[in-house]
This record gives sequence, structure tokens and C-alpha cells, in this order.
Amino acid sequence: MKTKIVKLEQLEHNENELKEAGQILRDGGLVAFPTETVYGLGADGLNSEASAKIYSAKGRPSDNPLILHIADIKTVDVLAKDVSKEARKVMEVFWPGPLTVILNKKEVVPYGTTGGLDTVAIRMPSHPVARELIKVAGVAVAAPSANTSGRPSPTTAQHVLQDMDGRIDMIVDGGKVGIGIESTIVDMTGEIPMILRPGYITKPMLEQVIGKEVRIDPAILSKEGMDGIRPKAPGMKYKHYAPKGELTIVSSHNMDNMVQTINKLAKEKLDAGYVVGIIATEETKDQYPNGVVKEIGSRKDQVSISAGLYSVLRDFDDAGVEFIYSEGFEQDDFGQAIMNRLLKAAGYEMIRV
Ligand code: TXA
Ligand code: MG
Repeated sequence: MKTKIVKLEQLEHNENELKEAGQILRDGGLVAFPTETVYGLGADGLNSEASAKIYSAKGRPSDNPLILHIADIKTVDVLAKDVSKEARKVMEVFWPGPLTVILNKKEVVPYGTTGGLDTVAIRMPSHPVARELIKVAGVAVAAPSANTSGRPSPTTAQHVLQDMDGRIDMIVDGGKVGIGIESTIVDMTGEIPMILRPGYITKPMLEQVIGKEVRIDPAILSKEGMDGIRPKAPGMKYKHYAPKGELTIVSSHNMDNMVQTINKLAKEKLDAGYVVGIIATEETKDQYPNGVVKEIGSRKDQVSISAGLYSVLRDFDDAGVEFIYSEGFEQDDFGQAIMNRLLKAAGYEMIRV
């Protein structure tokens, strides 16, 4: 299969390309497209055969359910039932945006899309290209992140091409995405809303709108949790986002200590002849004399860090880096989502100094 790439920088000048992408989706094909979080790999989510193609293109385990992307909040009632007042409120406030809501599914949603579950994940993205594409396609677009299973999620069309060339019909290139890590997932089917995957929409933001406590799935917070308890989002149990090099996070409240420790660890590996990468920030990048140093973003702007994370991990893979040392980040609200991805990539290897 030849993968067609179309650049969509200005929507109003690209109606024909969007129509073509929409037609591919209606015909049961695969189209990768940008969202505000990461690039998605789309298929008609109500067509089991089409969503089955997603699993084979990604090499994704079939028990890992897909998110249905919609462009109009009314579509929720086509796909889901027993939608509580609180769930509606959350969708009205945070959509379109980086929030996925788990609801009880209606019969139209095939088990092939939900990995056999009776619940369905739904999200209305805010990225203008994603919204237009879903509208033009006129179907609920099932879309996981457009990476090969186990690789970092793609934040540019180039990343998608690296993983999906020859495996999908089309890549819609809308430039670099904004947030760079996947949407928050909140399960609204139970008495107490539960965050199954942390993201840009945080627990306090949800609590403020819902007006009561929101819990975080304990299984996703630590390695101990992951070993002991089964996470409620099936995808969270896999070792995701793993770079080829061995990643260690060095965390400290004292920047100087952190930098010194990273330099010491890096030097040991360099002296032993290994290729070493360092994940630095704008504030610290000049303090690392050795190794392949990549600036991920600025500590003053958390979104710059989330937006840079996956791309840096991919760069290190391409550079054949064997050991990676990353600075640690604060685990406050959105910081928790960033550290969740970084910790998973590190297999929970973190040194506190
Ligand atoms: O930001 C995002 O959400 C991106 C963009 C493309 O929208 N999509 C994304 O999809 O991250 P994916 O497939 O890579 O991750 C979906 C996660 C998986 O961990 C999956 O197990 C979980 O959502 N999930 C999907 N349906 C679920 C359900 N019914 N119950 C629990 N977890 C579910
Ligand atoms: Mg993914």
C-alpha cells in the first residue's frame, strides 16, 4: 500500500484533500490526522473490519480498546447510554478538548472497537483539522495514537510516517501538535468518577466542574501499583513509550545536585564507551558538557515540556543512544501526567538526590 501524505496548513484551501480523507474513512480505510494531543490513526469506529485494520497496522493487542472521536456532542447519545448529569457537564465544559470520557456503550458500537468491553471511550478533539475531518467523514472515528505499539506517540506527521509508511492509506499533515501527550481519560460510569490516564485536564479541574471528589486509578501511579493491581484502562498495563536506550530519571529539589548527578552518571557510561543522551531543559542545557544533550522545553512552561517529550525520545532512538538520563519534573497537577509518561518510558527507574 502506498501511503499518501497531504499537507493541510490552511483548512479553507484544502477542501478536496479533506473530502478525500473523509471518503477513505467511509470506505473502511485508515487515515492518520493531528489532534491537539498527539496524532491519531483513524478508521470508521462503527465498522469492525475497519477498526481491525488499526490493530494490524499498529501491532496492537486486540484487548486494548479504541477511543471514538466525534465532532458534535449530540453523537454521544448515538454511541452511549446511561449518561449521567455529571458526565454531560464534564463534556459540555471540556469539549472540544483533551478529555476522553468512558460511558456505557450502546449496541451500535462493536466489541471489535471496545476490546470486548461494555463501555466506550469518547472524545471530541479541539484541533481544527481533526474536527473538520470527522465532520466531513460523517462517521465516529476510532483513533489510537498513530505509533507502532510500544513506541512513543507521534507529535508530528514525520513521526507517523516513520511508523506507518506503507501500512495506511493517508497521513494528514497538520504540523506539530500542541500538548504532545495523550488526553486525560475519566471513567464516568461509576458512582465516583475515576481518572484512568492523567493528562492536560487535571483532577482539580474535573473536581471543580463535577463538584465532588474524583479519584485516580491507583494502579497508574506507581510501579508497585502496576505490578499489583490491573489498571482499568487496558492500554495502561503495557510498557508504553519505551525508548530503545535505557532511561533513568534523576529527580531533586536542588537543580545543581540534579545536574551534577546526571553529569556523573553520564560520564561513567561515556567512559565505558556507550552512547549517552541527556534530557535537559532550557534552563539547564548549557550545564551538560558531555553526551547527546536535548532540550525538552522550559521549566517555566509545562506544555513546552509535554510537547517535547516524545519527540526527544524518538530522536534518541534514531541516534542509537544506549543510556538516557532525564531531569525529573514536579508531580503537581499536569506535572503528574508528564511524569506518568516519563516514568513509564523509564520502566519506573528514578533516582532521588
Ligand atoms: O489523546 C488521545 O487520547 C489520543 C488522540 C489520538 O486522541 N488517542 C489515544 O488513544 O491516546 P490510545 O488508543 O493510544 O489510548 C487509548 C487508551 C488506552 O489506554 C485504552 O486502553 C483506553 O484508552 N480505553 C479505551 N477505551 C476504554 C474503555 N472502554 N475503558 C477503559 N479504558 C479504555
Ligand atoms: Mg497510544
